[in-house]
Amino acid sequence: MDLVLFGPPGAGKGTQAQRLVELLGVPQISTGDLMRAERKAGTELGKKFDEYMSKGQLVPDSLVIDLFADRLGKPDAAKGAIFDGFPRTQAQAQALDDLLARLGRSIHKVVVIDLAVEDILDRITGRRVDPATGQVYHVRYNPPPPGITVEQRKDDTEEVVRTRDQSYRRDTEPVLPYYETRGLVARVDGLGELDEITQRIREAIGA
Ligand code: AP5
Repeated sequence: MDLVLFGPPGAGKGTQAQRLVELLGVPQISTGDLMRAERKAGTELGKKFDEYMSKGQLVPDSLVIDLFADRLGKPDAAKGAIFDGFPRTQAQAQALDDLLARLGRSIHKVVVIDLAVEDILDRITGRRVDPATGQVYHVRYNPPPPGITVEQRKDDTEEVVRTRDQSYRRDTEPVLPYYETRGLVARVDGLGELDEITQRIREAIGA
């Protein structure tokens, strides 16, 4: 199954993708995670990504699409994947369709996790990530187990989050009609317990 998780920053795309991996038996492909890995490795590409990510701006399509295509071609994604944070522009949506078509596949569903702007800041400023595993936590809503060292993402400051949210509303939300006209979009409320939201997504995708 090829599933797109869509929604504003902090909506819970990464958290829910991690929960769906085992259930669906396909990997999570997060372009944000792929970019952070390049940045951490100190590659030239990683430095280029950082110029945009640190300001909360979208990385240019040409760079993102190449990175994504490379990951989609890995053996573990041969039967499908959960796309987290991709596509974010019309060009990326078209590229995703083309790449999947070449593999004889197509998108099963685009699940939009809705979250109001006022809830985003609280979610994001409390987010912590285990750098060893990539597991996402929240200081209050999903605290890391004792003994785990976690860190805060560089772009999780209030100022950068506001820019990321604007970019979502301006550049990414307008991609939805492309999927709506094909009847692929399902909306789920992103407010609630983690299990409740997983259940809503399962119902939306029939899993
Ligand atoms: P990316 O890494 O994709 O970040 P994002 O889209 O801004 O989304 P987040 O990771 O912030 O949020 P999420 O929805 O995954 O929420 P999470 O589950 O962590 O992108 C970062 C940057 O990379 C972009 O700004 C851009 O520069 C670049 N980039 C990436 N992809 C790109 C692309 N395709 N094109 C161009 N540029 C690209 O949850 C958030 C917090 O809330 C966590 O602490 C979690 O524990 C908590 N939480 C989750 N669910 C709940 C709940 N139900 N109740 C309470 N707390 C909850």
